[in-house]
Amino acid sequence: MRRLGSVKRRVWLFACLLFAVLLSAACTGGDLAEEEAGGEAKQDENLVVVGVSQIGSESVWRTANTASIQRVFTKENGYFLIFKNARQKQENQIKALRSFISQRVDYIAFSPITEQGWDTVLLEAKEAGIPVILIDRKVKVRDESLYVAWIGPDFVNEGRMAGEALEECLKRQGRQEESIRIVVLQGTEGSTSAIGRSRGFLSVAKEHQNWSILEQVDAEFTTAKGQEEMERLLHKYENIDVLISQNDDMTFGALEAIQKAGKKAGEDGDIIVISFDAVKNALKLVEEGSITADVECNPNQGEYVEAVIRKMENHENVAKLNFVEEQVFTAENVRERLEKE
Ligand code: AHR
Repeated sequence: MRRLGSVKRRVWLFACLLFAVLLSAACTGGDLAEEEAGGEAKQDENLVVVGVSQIGSESVWRTANTASIQRVFTKENGYFLIFKNARQKQENQIKALRSFISQRVDYIAFSPITEQGWDTVLLEAKEAGIPVILIDRKVKVRDESLYVAWIGPDFVNEGRMAGEALEECLKRQGRQEESIRIVVLQGTEGSTSAIGRSRGFLSVAKEHQNWSILEQVDAEFTTAKGQEEMERLLHKYENIDVLISQNDDMTFGALEAIQKAGKKAGEDGDIIVISFDAVKNALKLVEEGSITADVECNPNQGEYVEAVIRKMENHENVAKLNFVEEQVFTAENVRERLEKE
């Protein structure tokens, strides 16, 4: 997979990077600290250059995911990282990918905000001989060879685990036969995580004729939108038995809305809440009882991406799909995890 003329490429890359840095500093006057980590490393042409385009900083999970990437792609580990934050815009991601291509980086890694719309830019990367690795979310492309590997969670299984956690909770409450009214706060429309979690949960829901989904709404994976949508749903529907919230940030907002409406979240309250991600502050709420189950989404994907790149540098084969491990947290097992945090 390694391309020919590697030394020449890196000399060329060094010149391009220097030019890009000078130009960027002249034009924008800044943001280089965040955009381009490891400035001094630019002088070492033996480093493997990795361009990473991150979706944004929409959630606590995303921040942890970014940190895991920045932790591994260091000068000490032999890398020069060019990191770009797309601030929730696909067009910014496409721009970042094109800038990586024109700088002739060794590898591109990115977390695509949505699945559609990547064929052209990925073809450009392929034609430039730059391997592309997908992090977290997937792309829908006509030609699967446009990326070499994907590292991420099994989102469909996450959705299924949420459905099973709800089954268990209703069993504990002795409400298996009761009619159960559910609302779903979904993440970014068209994203692999929202698509997969919805699909997985629906596969369990359709086995229960007494479960009815009142509404599934896009709350963009953010706290503000989660609160806004939950307020609207509470206003619209007199009785909501269950909230399925596709990330912890939306859950934090929804819990505010539930409290403001004078209702109690939790298995012993009015609304059962099932969440995704399992960030520390949400796990505390699992222990305290307002979140009944939190399906983990493992953000520590940086080390897996680095392992894929290391293999490619050593001319070894890499698996196309690489799943990270995850589990469900409930009041029963959450303490042990909190103690490790
Ligand atoms: O794609 C993973 C999802 O994206 C996480 O659940 C969410 O918190 C993030 O923003």
